[in-house]
Amino acid sequence: MFRFGVDYYPEHWPEARWEIDARLMQEAGFNTARLAEFAWSRLEPSPGRFEFAWLDRAIAILHAQGIQVVLGTPTASPPPWVMALYPDAYRVPESGQAMSYGNRREYCPTHAGYRERSRLITQALAEHYAGHPAVIGWQTDNEFGDRCYCDHCRAAFQGWLQHKYGALGALNEAWGTVFWSHEYSAWAQIPAPLATAAPFGEGSPNPGLALDYYRFMSHQYVAFQREQIDILHNRCPDHFITHNLMGSGYDRLNYFDLAADLDFVSWDNYRRMQWTFQPEVRPSEAALAHATMRGLKHKNFWVMEQQAGAGGWQIVSVAPRPGELQLWAYQSIAHGADAIIFFRWRSARFGTEQYWHGLLDHDGRTGRRYTEIKQMGAEIARVGAQIAGSEVRAEVALLLDYDTRFAFQIQANNPAFHYIAHVHDIFQAFHARNVAVEVVSAQEEFTGYKLLIVPALYVLREETAAAIERFVRQGGAVLVTPRTGVKDETNTIVDMPLPGYLARLCGIEVEEYDSLPAGVSQPLAFTNEDIHIPETLHARIWCDVVRTVDAQVVARYTQDYYANSPAITLNAFGAGHAVYVATFGDAALYTALAGWLLKLAKVEAIATPPAGVEYCVRWQGEQRILFVLNHIAEEQHLALPEPMLNLLTGETIPLSSVDLQPRQVMILAAPSGNGW
Ligand code: GAL
Repeated sequence: MFRFGVDYYPEHWPEARWEIDARLMQEAGFNTARLAEFAWSRLEPSPGRFEFAWLDRAIAILHAQGIQVVLGTPTASPPPWVMALYPDAYRVPESGQAMSYGNRREYCPTHAGYRERSRLITQALAEHYAGHPAVIGWQTDNEFGDRCYCDHCRAAFQGWLQHKYGALGALNEAWGTVFWSHEYSAWAQIPAPLATAAPFGEGSPNPGLALDYYRFMSHQYVAFQREQIDILHNRCPDHFITHNLMGSGYDRLNYFDLAADLDFVSWDNYRRMQWTFQPEVRPSEAALAHATMRGLKHKNFWVMEQQAGAGGWQIVSVAPRPGELQLWAYQSIAHGADAIIFFRWRSARFGTEQYWHGLLDHDGRTGRRYTEIKQMGAEIARVGAQIAGSEVRAEVALLLDYDTRFAFQIQANNPAFHYIAHVHDIFQAFHARNVAVEVVSAQEEFTGYKLLIVPALYVLREETAAAIERFVRQGGAVLVTPRTGVKDETNTIVDMPLPGYLARLCGIEVEEYDSLPAGVSQPLAFTNEDIHIPETLHARIWCDVVRTVDAQVVARYTQDYYANSPAITLNAFGAGHAVYVATFGDAALYTALAGWLLKLAKVEAIATPPAGVEYCVRWQGEQRILFVLNHIAEEQHLALPEPMLNLLTGETIPLSSVDLQPRQVMILAAPSGNGW
């Protein structure tokens, strides 16, 4: 069943309004609502006094309209009494100054008292709603994240290290604490890497310690979540459990670990935010986020918060243009969402998020946004069942690594380098060609893919390098970019030429490198005629100075003391190929390389639509479902290779050329069932 619905806060509105809301939701085609993830003060107004009757009434009203419910455990925002009980449960950010009451996410995930309160409310909710016919599943907390550096965390970190290293000698060795005489002689001496001691206002801790701390903090949230999951699984074995993650941009948690305990991943998809004022929304950014969320479990996901209006806390974002809300929601579906839940139903009249607009305006009127989504609801009623459970299949994999992300937070290497921006520079080149990309972790085998993208895999384990080698030996193609293989898992620099464990595979050795100042770049000279270069391409941010061992040169630098030395190389290895790009370059560089890489890997793109139109395919068994998304505000013309059925309207499109209205979406299938 395809889930279509809304995030609803009945506690924000008079009870007399609930019936009207439920009816309007039903009319919009909604079958699901998420409730209660910020309602702790109403669910447990004082310690141990649980009041669920109001929520029962709200759920009953929704259920009468055919709407089922996902409940949130309300632990992301504690009521004042919780924090008054545990004044030492406030999270301490890196600055060392504890949070105070009045926002949300102000709790420390390690604090024993907070954890107990979280278990108690979770248990009470789970017991009350276990057999409820309207309740289908749970969302743990809300958007976990944010590191804590308090004394409780520090003590727990010391215990975590003891468990990990066994003996202090091993820890001192792993972190290289002889540097600056940091050798620890008691576990209790080990600090949390606060920013306070640094001379330049930012922390500059031992990289080994900091990486372990970041892993530890991620582990604390995973453990905190697991306590809730254990309770929910135990009491509500028939309900699913998910969490709303934050896409590919969020980098404080190891999302692979957080997702491991969930039945499926959900995420919150906002395209126009209060702080992003660019007039253009880049579809490839959402696509990368979707691919990341799908890749965490290699499974379809939910969008638990799909943008429903302008975003805003203090500042109001650009309003979503007509057609954008449904376009973004369909894009989510095209990339693997099996549920779209809009955030939020009605714009709040009070509280921090007064300007985070819902489908309804503050006054409860149904306007343009509601009407647009209601139309989508009618379409979902028609196609939902055909789409739900269908898969995205990819031949290209992109290795995303949270250890690497954490390590770059400690040492950025170059101020202009941002890991996820670099990942996006590469990803967008494949997205522009409508090639599906699956995000994978460093802990997997890559069998089954044809092309593996390895962007700046800074922390590289020997086992991962071995898996990449196996993949290439068996015929795969791999793309490796700079700063790969620099560190081992202790965040120590490897004692071998870079790219370390991948040097042999790439057939090169990095002899030295040049970290470029802002704005400095140099043109690349291509020597390989298979690559179509539409414009001059540049090296920027970082230039490895490479010596080829077995590889052939594809492009060279043209300036500076390393003019003429290789900038891009190609190495035949086993039955496959390894491409090393020795500079970060920008999106244009990867756009130029993508076609050649796909050819090298023998991956075929589906077809090339006009600019601004995105094609995505989901597979229902052997039937292809083709999503055509016009991301721009202009009419476009498409050439279809054969007549196709538009699943949204039920009409066959007989012509080979079809007009796409501004921001129009079509979902197509070939009547034969085979697709293109
Ligand atoms: C999300 C969050 C919601 C709401 C929304 C708009 O990140 O999960 O609770 O805050 O953003 O700000």
